[in-house]
This record gives sequence, structure tokens and C-alpha cells, in this order.
Amino acid sequence: MLAVITGASRGIGESYARQLAARGYGLHVVARDAERLATLAAGLRAAHPVPVEEIVLDLALPDSAERLYAEVRGRRSAPVDLLVNNAGFGLYGEFTDTPTPRLQEMVYLQVVTVMKLMRLFLPEMRERGSGAIINVASVAGLLPVPYMALYAATKAFMVSLGLSVEQEVRPYGVFVQTCCPGQTLTDFHGTAGMSRPYASGGQQTADDVVAESLAAVDRRRPMVITGYRNRLYMHLQQFVPRQLVLWVTARRMKSHTGTGRASV
Ligand SMILES: NC(=O)c1ccc[n+]([C@@H]2O[C@H](COP(=O)([O-])OP(=O)(O)OC[C@H]3O[C@@H](n4cnc5c(N)ncnc54)[C@H](OP(=O)(O)O)[C@@H]3O)[C@@H](O)[C@H]2O)c1
Repeated sequence: MLAVITGASRGIGESYARQLAARGYGLHVVARDAERLATLAAGLRAAHPVPVEEIVLDLALPDSAERLYAEVRGRRSAPVDLLVNNAGFGLYGEFTDTPTPRLQEMVYLQVVTVMKLMRLFLPEMRERGSGAIINVASVAGLLPVPYMALYAATKAFMVSLGLSVEQEVRPYGVFVQTCCPGQTLTDFHGTAGMSRPYASGGQQTADDVVAESLAAVDRRRPMVITGYRNRLYMHLQQFVPRQLVLWVTARRMKSHTGTGRASV
């Protein structure tokens, strides 16, 4: 079994790498931080009898999906059983103030590259009649989020594309999971320019998110909202007028203290 995991150098992606290696998957781990990838890969090779290869790549570049696909094809001896589209980052602040190159980088990483990787890996999975893709979206993809407007929009794209394509490929024996975590304790909020997560309490660990995602893959669940608090919130907000939910979300997000130092 072979898995390709994007954004595996830290956080949720690193957790996918650890849990999939423990399940016996060989791995291609992908991110920009070569040092962190090398340390992760060495640790996994020592702990599990599986091959682990690093691919150092900036997935926000326009041709990065094609480069990743070519790299995997060039190196692998077995077919890819699982693609985890996990790499991503948030940007906190007013959309109107955010530099356009940063917005474009996010669209390349979380829209264009995700779309292209699915399009590149699905044909051979369909041909074989097996294989799976996990797209790590977010609960932010289920509800607009003022002050993280583009982030939520890219995740809404992932939710919509993943759920639609899942229906198309299921008859061929291929599976697509849309994974929607809520607040998770990783470097995400610091990278987004937030001094702290946007609500106190109730955050999950990356390990918990990934355990729920993989358990849902085992049960062939096309959509998983991780964490019971997140499931409860997403369920209850349906009964409240949309404008009111947006108003409350905007007030909560606006009152958040940003660090003013969003970084990738
Ligand atoms: N943490 C949360 O609260 C939360 C909630 C819902 C959904 N999510 C989603 O979960 C996913 C993982 O986030 P996380 O919480 O684990 O954040 P994280 O700890 O900041 O990890 C982000 C990962 O994405 C990689 N990445 C970022 N930009 C990249 C680029 N241009 N090219 C290649 N790799 C890139 C990073 O690696 P390098 O820096 O080494 O490139 C890192 O491995 C994201 O898609 C995020 O939107 C997170």
C-alpha cells in the first residue's frame, strides 16, 4: 500500500504520515521544509518496516501538481492507493487589506493544486477499480467566515468538488473523503497571523482528527466533521437564520487579536 501526503512536515499531515505508516503504508511525504521532512521520514523508517520518501516541493506554484505527479511516477514501484490533499494555510484579516499575491498563493495551493492532483491520480485509480483520496477541508468550508474569507471559500470549493466527485467515482470502486476538522492544535493559527485560536476550549489534537478521518475511511464515509462539538455546532447552526450566524461569526472573528504577521 502506498500513500502520498501533502503538507506532511507538521500538524495534521504529519499525523496522517505517522498513522498511515503504522497501518503499513509506504509513504511519499510532501512539503517545503526539507529538514522537517527528512527527520520525519527517518523516524518513520526506523519505527515501521515501510519505505518513506520525501518530496520537497512548493505546492502553491502553478505547475507543482504536475511536478509532484511526475516525481511520484518516477520513484514508485507500486500504485498509489491513497492521496491525502492536506497542505494548506489560513490568512486572518480583512480581505480588502490582504496582498493579492498571498491570496493567489492560497488559491493555487488549496484550489488549483488540489483540483489538479485529483484529476491526475483518479484515472489510474478508476482503471484499477480501487484507491482513495482524502481532501482535508474544514468546517470553514461549510459556512462563510468573515475575516478568513478566502480561506473559507477555498475550503468550500474542496467540500463541493470532493462530495460531487465521490458520487462519480464510487461506482468504479474509488473513494473520496472530505474531512472537515474544526480548530485543531497545530501551527495553523500562528501561520494565519492569529495570536491564538478563535475560541477557547474544545480544540482537537491533530492525532484525534486523523484517527477520526481514517476510521471514517474504513467505514467508507464520504464526509467527516471531526469532533463532537464541531458536529453539534454545524448541526445547530442550520436552525438559526444565516445572516445571524454570519453576524455573530463576524463579531467573534473581528474581536480576535491578530499578530499582524501572517506567514507561510
Ligand atoms: N489547524 C486547524 O485548526 C485546522 C482546522 C481545519 C482544517 N485545517 C486544515 O488542515 C490542513 C493542515 O493544517 P495544519 O493545521 O496541520 O497546519 P500546519 O501545522 O501549519 O501545517 C500545514 C502544512 O501544510 C504545508 N504547506 C503549507 N504551504 C505549503 C506549500 N506552499 N507547499 C507545500 N506544503 C505547504 C506545511 O509544510 P511546509 O511549511 O513545510 O511547506 C505543513 O506541512 C490545512 O489544509 C488546513 O487548512 C486545519
